[in-house]
Amino acid sequence: MQMSRQQAGHFEAAVRAALLPVSAGRGSGGGGGQEGVKAATTSAGAAAASAVSATSSGSSSAGGSDAVGGGGGGGGVGETLESQFDVQHEEILGSGQFGTVYAGVCYATGQEVAIKVIDKLRFPTKQETQLKNEVSILQSLNHEGVVKLHKMFETQRTLFVVMEKMAGDMLEMILSGAEGRLSERVTKYLVAQILCALRYLHTRCVVHCDLKPENVLLAPAAGHGSLLYPQIKLCDFGFARIIGEKSFRKSIVGTPAYLAPEVLKYKGYNRSIDMWSVGVITYVSLSGTFPFNEDEDIADQIKNASFMYPPVPWETISAEATNLIDHLMDLSIKDRYTVAMAWCHKWIK
Ligand SMILES: Nc1ncnc2c1ncn2[C@@H]1O[C@H](COP(=O)(O)OP(=O)(O)OP(=O)(O)O)[C@@H](O)[C@H]1O
Ligand SMILES: [Mg+2]
Repeated sequence: MQMSRQQAGHFEAAVRAALLPVSAGRGSGGGGGQEGVKAATTSAGAAAASAVSATSSGSSSAGGSDAVGGGGGGGGVGETLESQFDVQHEEILGSGQFGTVYAGVCYATGQEVAIKVIDKLRFPTKQETQLKNEVSILQSLNHEGVVKLHKMFETQRTLFVVMEKMAGDMLEMILSGAEGRLSERVTKYLVAQILCALRYLHTRCVVHCDLKPENVLLAPAAGHGSLLYPQIKLCDFGFARIIGEKSFRKSIVGTPAYLAPEVLKYKGYNRSIDMWSVGVITYVSLSGTFPFNEDEDIADQIKNASFMYPPVPWETISAEATNLIDHLMDLSIKDRYTVAMAWCHKWIK
């Protein structure tokens, strides 16, 4: 157990380092800017092969330089990203395994946007289909808890996903909280909004499959108190799947540390994998640590309450909170709480 806390500490240190303000040197590196986060996520995660393994080490275009004209998608014939948007390469909003997200401005309207730049050459064909999957799923969604897709441009080499611009993500918020975690009140506020967005998605049979604090975006401050209690929107639908109520999928998805054990064990999974991730997000937000030691079986660890909830900090956290986490991180898909059940839980109400 000592080890796992240490590992969590290393993870947090790596994440903190990766989240330091972007320096000019990092701005031109395309997708490479947050290798620290990716590496740490993988090492802090559970034992299964990481879904990030398809990422090759090829260099990335950092956006725009190969734009030779709109190639299908939402951009329209002859339209290029550059003709419509000023891409601010010096302002990186974030990056992940698929791409780097830059700030931008629409020339016509002055509207600020976020532009995810994906270098298609870094991914095998199968992954390219997956990248477009993100766009097609986002196109079909319209909810205040889901980031809005404005437009998509495509060149031979690059995919540009233009979205509404948000002000940061939940991981940054957790790490900037006192002791690197958030209070029950704030966590509850954020988790309730995640549940609202998930209710919308799950009723449409859309399963996010990669829920984690980095993929929960925070809206820009709208008024007094909104910095402490921000509105959230889910982003990064790269692994999202349409899964009918009674169906199961088997493909590899997500980020190990937040992944339900049935995925890690290559068993079939359904929409309840998102609920497991909500449990891990709640745990991470309240404690600033990960629940599991990557080297041991999740089933063994989860049965050991004193391992799962060590006195620091859990003795200061309500039993209702840990009760909800237990119902979300339930090994049994059948018994795991659904959105509706979590919504009615006494900690959320
Ligand atoms: N619309 C947005 N506004 C502001 N920041 C954003 C926006 N979209 C993404 N980001 C930032 O960029 C980061 C990476 O974006 P995203 O998760 O879509 O990329 P990814 O490569 O698919 O990531 P992952 O490694 O999780 O698969 C997010 O964690 C967030 O910090
Ligand atoms: Mg992401």
